[in-house]
Amino acid sequence: MDMYAFCSELPKIELHAHLNGSLSKSTMLQLKRHYADSSLDDKSNIFFDEFQIGAGDTRNLSNCFQVFGIAHALTSTPETLEIATKMTLQEFDDDGCCYIELRSTPRDTPHMTKKQYIDTIAQSMQKVSVHLPIMSRLIVSINRSHPISEAEIITDLAIEYHKKYPDVVVGLELSGEPTVGKFEDFVPCFTRAKESGLKITLHCGEVCNPEEIICMLNFKPDRIGHGTCIHPNHGGTENTWASLFKTKTPVEVCLTSNVNTKSAPDYASHHFKELYNAELPVILCTDDKGVFATSLSQEYRICAETFDLDQTQLARLALNACQFIFAQDLKKPLMSKILNFMDKYSL
Ligand code: IMP
Ligand code: ZN
Repeated sequence: MDMYAFCSELPKIELHAHLNGSLSKSTMLQLKRHYADSSLDDKSNIFFDEFQIGAGDTRNLSNCFQVFGIAHALTSTPETLEIATKMTLQEFDDDGCCYIELRSTPRDTPHMTKKQYIDTIAQSMQKVSVHLPIMSRLIVSINRSHPISEAEIITDLAIEYHKKYPDVVVGLELSGEPTVGKFEDFVPCFTRAKESGLKITLHCGEVCNPEEIICMLNFKPDRIGHGTCIHPNHGGTENTWASLFKTKTPVEVCLTSNVNTKSAPDYASHHFKELYNAELPVILCTDDKGVFATSLSQEYRICAETFDLDQTQLARLALNACQFIFAQDLKKPLMSKILNFMDKYSL
């Protein structure tokens, strides 16, 4: 089987995908039609070309955060949020993803509250599970550039919904513009969430900030996202690298996202190499498949081509990812699924 077919067929695990960054062109067009049909003004003036940040785009990581407003204008009602969730899950399923932890930041809009926002995604996930094989869970996001008072409200909601839908809401995460806000200020929220049984993942080391990286790793999150500036070759220090090596915190790696936002100069110099060579736990993820015009199977293929991995090594990456999922009850069935696939192809 060629690498293209192999990467599509391999049962894959997605652990770092922001809902509003994952919207495809066809999903956005369908949402746009929905707004037109309901006589709602979507205010997006959508230019899909602007939403996508391709290779060689002149925008940097900071500019990239502006594009999410385009998606937000199209998911401001419970109906459109439901369509966005269902279509995104369908696309991941089509791409051979068997388990996804989708993450999203609850927002108050003129048409819904933060509570309705979480409720809508949670219920959409439950509906999808009836007719699609993909299994999905929700990680609630906190945006670090928003006030702490908002993070507190979101933490309360995440805890409430984890109790209400323990099989859907599994985690709390920190994301948003990495140069704004301090992790330290969010520690009480994440501590409360942890104590309530939610799993934690943090966008960590997207920019060089060794003190924050150490503070985050000391918090002992269940996973971190990106981990770009941790190794000394990539703007980290001996201490940040030693701390990651000691804690063995699993890293959600997003190759195309980092290259397209210029956090990594090119695929070959991506920090995946240092993490993989040090045998630290890594999970290949998409981050924002709509914005970065990628898919999970494409990320696996790029990884294989860039770092010269064979099919067995790729399948092991998917298999290892099962160790770090937040839905404890699904670890075994997902591992069996991937092991069966490996058996079938004698990997
Ligand atoms: P949402 O949470 O579903 O609305 O997805 C979009 C949001 O995810 C953005 O507004 C950011 O807060 C966050 N996000 C998406 N990609 C990144 C990233 O690469 N780094 C940090 N935050 C991100
Ligand atoms: Zn992200």
